[in-house]
Amino acid sequence: MIITITSYKGGVGKTTSAIHIAAYLQRLAPTLLVDGDAIRSASKWAQRGGEGGLPFKVVSHAQMVSHIRDYQHIVIDTEGNPSDDDFKDLADNCDLLVIPAVPESVATDGLTHTLAKLRSLGNTRHKVLLTMVPPKPRTDGLQLREMLQAEGIPVFASEIPRLAAYEKAATYGVPVYSVKDDRNAARAWEVYEAAGREIVGG
Ligand SMILES: Nc1ncnc2c1ncn2[C@@H]1O[C@H](COP(=O)(O)OP(=O)(O)OP(=O)(O)O)[C@@H](O)[C@H]1O
Ligand SMILES: [Mg+2]
Repeated sequence: MIITITSYKGGVGKTTSAIHIAAYLQRLAPTLLVDGDAIRSASKWAQRGGEGGLPFKVVSHAQMVSHIRDYQHIVIDTEGNPSDDDFKDLADNCDLLVIPAVPESVATDGLTHTLAKLRSLGNTRHKVLLTMVPPKPRTDGLQLREMLQAEGIPVFASEIPRLAAYEKAATYGVPVYSVKDDRNAARAWEVYEAAGREIVGG
C-alpha cells in the first residue's frame, strides 16, 4: 500500500502522522517511510533515535528508487504548500491520501484549499485525519468533523488529541509508545493504531 500524507497547510501533524502510521504498518509488513520534505523532519526524527529508535527505515526521495522493491508498505511524508503539479502527482500516485487537519479556523483555510483541489482533480482516495484536537469541553474537533461529513468528505473515526507526548517522541527520536516519561503516551499511540486499522481495513 502507498499512503501519502499531505496538505497545503504546514504544521498540521503530517510528519507526526507519517511516523506513527508507518510504525503501525511495520507491525503488519515491511514498511518504508519516504521523507519528501526538503527540511527532512522525518529523517532527523530517525537520526535522533539512532539504533532502536524507529522500527522502520526512513529514506529520502532520491534514495527511494533503490529501496522500494523490498517493502510492502510505503508511507510518504510531504512538505507543506506543495506546487499544484506536485500535489496532483502525489494525489494520483497513492492508494490513500491522508490529510491531517487541525480543528481551528486558521488551519481550516488550508484544508478548504486542499479539499477543493482534490475535488477538482476528481480524487476519491483521500481521508481527513483530525489532529491536535483540543480536549473537552472544547468542541472544535466535533464541529469540524460534522462540517466535513455534511459535505460528504471522508474523515477518520479515530482522531488525534493535542498531547505533549508527540513532541517528546519527536525530541527522543522514537514512536510515541516508547516515550517513558509521559502518562498519555499509551493513549497517544492507541489513536494512531486505530487510524492504522482504518487504513488497512479500507
Ligand atoms: N497531536 C499533537 N499534539 C500536540 N502536538 C503535536 C501533535 N502532532 C504534532 N504535534 C507537534 O506540532 C508540531 C508540528 O507537527 P508536525 O511536524 O508533525 O507537522 P507537519 O505538518 O509535518 O509540519 P511541516 O508542515 O512543517 O512539515 C511539532 O512540534 C509536533 O511535535
Ligand atoms: Mg513535516
